[in-house]
Amino acid sequence: MTTSSRKLLFATNNAHKLSEVQAVLGPGFELTIPRACGITEEIPETCDTLEGNASQKAHYLYDRTGLDCFADDTGLEVAALGGAPGVHSARYATDGHDFIKNNELLLRNLAGVADRRARFRTVVALLLDGKEYRFEGVVEGRIIDHAIGHEGFGYDPLFVPDGSSKTFAEMTADEKNAVSHRGRAIRKLAEFLLAQ
Ligand code: IMP
Repeated sequence: MTTSSRKLLFATNNAHKLSEVQAVLGPGFELTIPRACGITEEIPETCDTLEGNASQKAHYLYDRTGLDCFADDTGLEVAALGGAPGVHSARYATDGHDFIKNNELLLRNLAGVADRRARFRTVVALLLDGKEYRFEGVVEGRIIDHAIGHEGFGYDPLFVPDGSSKTFAEMTADEKNAVSHRGRAIRKLAEFLLAQ
């Protein structure tokens, strides 16, 4: 019997994200990225919800390639900030994806705030033969008052998931994937694809 991996286009050029997601999906899936399909421009994400952005990115790729594809959008939702930065997590402090400035702004906005509860939420939009399916993953936790750890990316050095004493930035990729928002959403995606 021959086995072949299933090809999927994933809407990211973030190497950290790509390796996290490939690790969760395992060898049964072969991910390709927009650049490898000649899509070098930034994929638009102009909606005001995670659901809208994930869907918009997946459709953008499908319209240009006709390939089965998926996109994710993630937000850090901080209780004491009314759910901010949320859908604006990438551009919280600046126009670019400046992780250090984003983390500094988050700490400033939480200075003196006792309620540190926060959660990461990921929405994945999958387009399979042009039909859309969505999956969600959530991890609850808290924001500490200074950065710890050098792994991962984004808000990882400030986020401690419930049930752990380590920030995401102190965890190995496997430890983070086991509990993370993205890990949970991508496992749902994988279960769905395997059942097709
Ligand atoms: P994206 O939608 O996955 O690009 O995520 C938007 C922003 O949320 C990123 O630029 C990061 O600042 C933050 N973010 C997303 N996923 C993670 C994560 O796993 N750890 C820490 N920050 C993240």
